[in-house]
Amino acid sequence: MAEKLQIFKCDICGNIVIVLHGGKGELVCCNEPMRLLSENTVDASLEKHVPVIEKSADGIIVKVGSAAHPMEEKHYIEWIEATIDGIVYRKFLSPGDKPEAFFPVKGNSVTAREYCNIHGLWKS
Ligand SMILES: [Fe+2]
Repeated sequence: MAEKLQIFKCDICGNIVIVLHGGKGELVCCNEPMRLLSENTVDASLEKHVPVIEKSADGIIVKVGSAAHPMEEKHYIEWIEATIDGIVYRKFLSPGDKPEAFFPVKGNSVTAREYCNIHGLWKS
């Protein structure tokens, strides 16, 4: 059973999927059940992983985190997602990029998630 916007990972091949419509079936990859990623459950630095949401005159900036997360080849933030007034936005990042994303939209209700390739899924 999967729910809308849950994120699952295959620990064998590394596939990561986001559910757009929940169903009763179990998600399977490489002949094994995929693992549900739960936010903020890995034992790691909160300051470097919990997204920080800032509103500016032009839009919304999401930084990871209150202390900048490393963006190295082997350890980096793969993407930052913002849900702004119910609309989901996502920016993919690469090693060497800043660990932040700017979304040029304004909104009242903003939540954010990010995915660290080593420490998993985090939200604020
Ligand atoms: Fe990390």
